[in-house]
Amino acid sequence: MVQPKYHVFICTSCRINGQQKGVCFQKDALDIVRAFMDEIEERELSGEVVVNNTGCFGICEKGPVAVVYPEGVWYGNLTVEDVPRIFDEHFEQGKPVEDLMI
Ligand code: FES
Repeated sequence: MVQPKYHVFICTSCRINGQQKGVCFQKDALDIVRAFMDEIEERELSGEVVVNNTGCFGICEKGPVAVVYPEGVWYGNLTVEDVPRIFDEHFEQGKPVEDLMI
């Protein structure tokens, strides 16, 4: 198995019964997941960046929320427009995007 350089967990408010229903979901978190997937494909980073959707992190007021490992960087209030910056600055230059961090 290839060990990714970055592993991104994005809250889509996924419930234990499989339903996606909650704050991050209502704030277009699925579009954010799709934007991450599109950037991975366009930049050919499929071996380096892995994305998974998750359930609630318990900080819904800051949603949509994403956590990036190995650093444990938390991003909040994300929009689709923020995603290319995370790739440019964090994944390609190694500098987490401070103004998106929570
Ligand atoms: S629903 Fe996303 S943090 Fe709660």
